[in-house]
Amino acid sequence: MGLSWHENVSTPALVIDYNKLVKNIETMANFAKENKVYLRPHVKTHKCPKIGQMQLEAGANGICVATIGEAEVFADNGFDDILIANEVVEINKMRRLIEINNKNLVRVCVDSQKNVKDLSELANKSNIKIEVLLDIDVGLGRTGVKSGEPALELANIIKKTPNLELVGLMGYEGHLTYLTDFENKKNQTELCMKMLVDMSDLLNKNGFEINYITAAGSGTYMIAGKYPGITEIQPGTYPFFDEHMSKCVPDFEIALTILATINNQTGKRNFTLDMGSKACSTADGKPIFKDYRKSKMTLLTEEHGQFKAGKDDSFEIGQKVELIPGHVCPTVNLYDFFNVIKDDKLIDKWEISARGKNY
Ligand SMILES: Cc1ncc(COP(=O)(O)O)c(C=O)c1O
Repeated sequence: MGLSWHENVSTPALVIDYNKLVKNIETMANFAKENKVYLRPHVKTHKCPKIGQMQLEAGANGICVATIGEAEVFADNGFDDILIANEVVEINKMRRLIEINNKNLVRVCVDSQKNVKDLSELANKSNIKIEVLLDIDVGLGRTGVKSGEPALELANIIKKTPNLELVGLMGYEGHLTYLTDFENKKNQTELCMKMLVDMSDLLNKNGFEINYITAAGSGTYMIAGKYPGITEIQPGTYPFFDEHMSKCVPDFEIALTILATINNQTGKRNFTLDMGSKACSTADGKPIFKDYRKSKMTLLTEEHGQFKAGKDDSFEIGQKVELIPGHVCPTVNLYDFFNVIKDDKLIDKWEISARGKNY
């Protein structure tokens, strides 16, 4: 019935296909090398220092994180070049940013005068300098200052602010990730990249020396990473990929699944798994079966996942099945460790050290 490694894994559990993970990491690293663009993977996807290390060994020049908690975990694990691809505004989090900056290079994004002033005051008190990137809103509308005059004004304020140094620009075109028409995605992504490059030209005409522009995710890296003037890409999802992403980007294989057990049969074709919403995020739709594409999940409650078997699929109680989550990042955040499978054997368990570090 199941593969032998199934016996050694308590479910629900996260499972990594090691060979596919390595291949995905290499595919992105090779793209970066071929296109002479720096690669700074966003580790919010896996939150796992072991995988971050593999990305560095494949050629990445540093990492991105989304939260100060993630920055702390990775700094404690020896990562020394970290970009918080986000704003750090809350007072305790700013204090923690100063603390890790005493030992490690941790850059942060800014998009408001208030945050610039607060960061500068704290850095001044500790007598350290913080390197910041100006976050430019390229259309996502989530964070970032508008390009042109508003960004120039904020850059000039940073220049006059003690203890902060403006070292680059960041933009994230996350609103384009899931576009399926490639020409349309290309046109729109290039407009976003032009906005960033034009912005750095404007700054440099006004006395700045900006030669660092970081952008893009796994859905747009292949366009942004080729755009002249973009110096770095910061994709996150590519080591694992997921159902939603693979519909839009064919370059990567799905390397992460959830192993679950069929606990109950409630009708001729109705079954229930031991994997509910506490074990699989439904943020981007319900998970799908890796090997039974006609069987469909119907409802996920906390500890239970109900499904209807496809016409030709047969299941039995106690059977283990693999599912592909709709969105991998919030799913990973629910688990303590990955089970690593290579050539049908369980070879290791890797801690998801930064899980839950959303603060
Ligand atoms: C600022 C920023 N950069 C990069 C990424 C990576 O994007 P993806 O997971 O689509 O590769 C994200 C993802 O949320 C992000 O917020």
